[in-house]
Amino acid sequence: MKLFKKKTSAPDTSKIKHIAFIMDGNGRWATRRGMPREYGHTVGAKVFRRIVEYCSDIGINCVTVYAFSTENWKRPEKEVSALMELFRVYLKDAVATMMKRDIRIVFLGDKSLFPEDIRETMLGIERDSINNKNRLNIAMNYGGRDEIVHAVNELIAEGKKEICEEDITSHLYTLDAPMPDLIVRTAGEIRTSNFLMWQSAYSEYYFTDKLWPDLNERDVDEAVCVFNRRKRNFGGV
Ligand code: FPP
Repeated sequence: MKLFKKKTSAPDTSKIKHIAFIMDGNGRWATRRGMPREYGHTVGAKVFRRIVEYCSDIGINCVTVYAFSTENWKRPEKEVSALMELFRVYLKDAVATMMKRDIRIVFLGDKSLFPEDIRETMLGIERDSINNKNRLNIAMNYGGRDEIVHAVNELIAEGKKEICEEDITSHLYTLDAPMPDLIVRTAGEIRTSNFLMWQSAYSEYYFTDKLWPDLNERDVDEAVCVFNRRKRNFGGV
């Protein structure tokens, strides 16, 4: 007789409409293995795909990942180029899977700074997946403050003299996506790093010491279980 039942079932995700990930720790993961930082990003990209697919498997219909911030351009040229190359390969590669899973891909951030071929790929992916039901937001050249400034400038251009919260919400890069219920950050850093500043007002955070390339499906289960035990009252009682 088995004394302990092996836990194989997926966690209850009914309260999570939107999960977001700050994918941190790629550089440290590689350095600890005596490898260049870029190698950490390559492994991180594989993990990105695996985790997005798992979220879709367990019924979370909206996922956001922080892939490249407005500040990441300040990294050494070698690392930025390696990331661009990874985006080149990975975006094309990931798109087939996303189409099969009925996932609409939206890029959060100002696309104008990317090399033209990457920008064209991003626009093509957004166009081709626009009618898909589920959502993957990939934050690239993204900053939360920049997003709010961008929204306000659009409102000014529309001639608004006075604005309300809904105006800003509807002009964010996230468009009509629900607000994130849960934000997971890896690599032991307890900060939000300019990610979804407006949208995260009532998000629950889950921080883990695990580095992004080490994150797996069981860690997502654990984050969801912790979230399910939290009491959310959105400022009420
Ligand atoms: C932060 O770790 C990670 C990044 C700046 C890049 C994240 C990008 C990926 C995982 C690739 C995703 C690919 C696609 C196509 C979306 P870090 O380098 O800051 O790590 P460190 O804090 O250990 O230095």
